[in-house]
Amino acid sequence: MRFHVMTLFPDMVSGGLRTSITGRAIENHIFELNIVNIRDYSKDKHKHVDDYPYGGGAGMVMQPGPVYDCYQDIVKNMDKKPRVIYMTPQGKVFSQSIAEELSKEEELIFLCGHYEGIDERVLEEIVTDELSIGDYVLTGGELPAMVMIDSISRLIPGVLNNDDSAEYESFQDGLLEYPQYTRPETFMDKKVPAVLLSGHHGNIAKWRREESLKRTFLRRPELLGTAELTDSDKKILEK
Ligand code: ADE
Repeated sequence: MRFHVMTLFPDMVSGGLRTSITGRAIENHIFELNIVNIRDYSKDKHKHVDDYPYGGGAGMVMQPGPVYDCYQDIVKNMDKKPRVIYMTPQGKVFSQSIAEELSKEEELIFLCGHYEGIDERVLEEIVTDELSIGDYVLTGGELPAMVMIDSISRLIPGVLNNDDSAEYESFQDGLLEYPQYTRPETFMDKKVPAVLLSGHHGNIAKWRREESLKRTFLRRPELLGTAELTDSDKKILEK
């Protein structure tokens, strides 16, 4: 998988993603990250990439030319046109199932806007998907692109090590995660639940499943509508 990020702030994206688990995966060539500075495609002697909005109003709008030339440069040697995802609060809200779908692509381009947005004509020309990370407005598309790349990349085989993947499995069914504990056994007079010290794998798995169900019921009951539930899960929820 190769992720391409079109941005005016390459250092922000690079710093965020070349760190920790995603950074290790990039170093190990498990996926590629190609960050391209849209400003490098400005034909202006001052490297401007934005201008005043036609019709007036606050802020600046990113011009279509540099965005289009940047895109053309990224796709020039590709046989097939990749999906181009524009980060915008007007898009469909990103989710785990969208992450799963996108993790099957060979190449993905993320287009990050700034200021008041990007000239509509170039969006019409190149964008295939518009996605949002939630109903709030950020100063630019870089954080949303990083959020999406992080969650898509952890679904690529080899990005998580075996210890991490076990954790991933338990998320797969659409329930919230059970609580976790580590040493010490007692902290501020609170003991770790005894079952976790018992060494009984069957009882531990049962306890964790119940905790996941309880948490989901209390905190995000709407998730139970789409979660994968067994008959024994349904009995627990009836209690
Ligand atoms: N750009 C600004 N706000 C955004 C959001 N919430 N999601 C995606 N892109 C954005």
